[in-house]
Amino acid sequence: MITNVTEFEAIAKEKLSKMVYDFYASGAEDQWTLKENRNAFSRILFRPRILVDVSKIDLTTTVLGFKISMPIMIAPTSMQKMAHPEGELATARAASAAGTIMFLSQTLSSGSTSSVDEVASTGPGVRFFQLYMLKDRNVVAQLVKRAERAGFKAIALTVDRPLLGRREADIKNRFTLPPHLTLKNFEGLDLGKLNKTDDSGLASYVPEQLDPEIDRSLNWKDVKWLQTITSLPILLKGVLTAEDARLAVEAGAAGIIVSNHGARQLDYVPATISALEEVVKAAQGRVPVFLDGGVRRGTDVFKAMALGASGVFIGRPVVFSLAADGEAGVRKVLEMLHDEFELTMALSGCRSLKEITRDHVVTDWDRPR
Ligand code: FNR
Repeated sequence: MITNVTEFEAIAKEKLSKMVYDFYASGAEDQWTLKENRNAFSRILFRPRILVDVSKIDLTTTVLGFKISMPIMIAPTSMQKMAHPEGELATARAASAAGTIMFLSQTLSSGSTSSVDEVASTGPGVRFFQLYMLKDRNVVAQLVKRAERAGFKAIALTVDRPLLGRREADIKNRFTLPPHLTLKNFEGLDLGKLNKTDDSGLASYVPEQLDPEIDRSLNWKDVKWLQTITSLPILLKGVLTAEDARLAVEAGAAGIIVSNHGARQLDYVPATISALEEVVKAAQGRVPVFLDGGVRRGTDVFKAMALGASGVFIGRPVVFSLAADGEAGVRKVLEMLHDEFELTMALSGCRSLKEITRDHVVTDWDRPR
């Protein structure tokens, strides 16, 4: 019997091939940041308040104007059909059932294996689209339009991946997308010269081959350009410093996601929970700040909220639970995190998200009281 989110990983490891499991689980190089994303949470302790009437607890919140059941959402992770035949479609149904938001990963270089239209057709639900900037802006514009038409409500531009981080397990395993999977968001688009990079078709587009199509020249001007081709709010995913948080606000970002890409890009960056507070301070309440990276417990969610996050996203727990039990697995993960977070709020004396304050936690960087 599964009693917490982490237990799904062992089940996934048994079910998946080594190549696929390693692709999901690994971080970059020494994987220091991968461990730190978890360890840093364990250095934050609670200062619970007692004798508060917690007979009613409200976990609901609003993200970019959309009311959701809890501040726990689904991060974009690529190629979910390697975990389960229903892939992103199962994830979309689970998110919708839980009343929360799902991010769909873009395709091509590391994309999702289901298209925006297929995900939209699973039924109602608030969905956001994650984008990598490709050299061919025409393809980017088509992807964004398609996501808009399919009813996606926001775009996250991932800004921490001008090049692919070194994940040594993938290098050793010679990771490739299994041949029966295609990168659906790109079907039917005018791919221009992309089409000519490989004459065997989209099915052969795998991260390594397509990496050259990701635009290493991505910079703040492109954030402005993106605003000219869409009216959807644009979040920047992958901010880790106060300096960049200020620039993101100036550039017109609708929100910031403090993320280190699940420790898959630059190793030895701090855990996201350690970087969160400086970003929150720099944003000065002008845009919401979200966090992903290592969130596995309701207590982690509470800690992020106490340090100023407007919500969190989970990555690996989704792919592992998907591998273990498809849609039911993802539902279970969302349910367990919901219940744990609710319990944490009750035991800390908080009845609503507004009541969670900085004083409810003490971190290793706080001065002694
Ligand atoms: C990711 N991540 C990611 N991010 C993104 O912007 N686009 C993508 O396509 C992917 N793909 C992807 C695949 C896999 C297998 C993983 C594990 C991660 C990063 C993801 O959105 C998120 O930042 C992290 O996964 C959060 O950390 P945890 O919850 O996995 O610890």
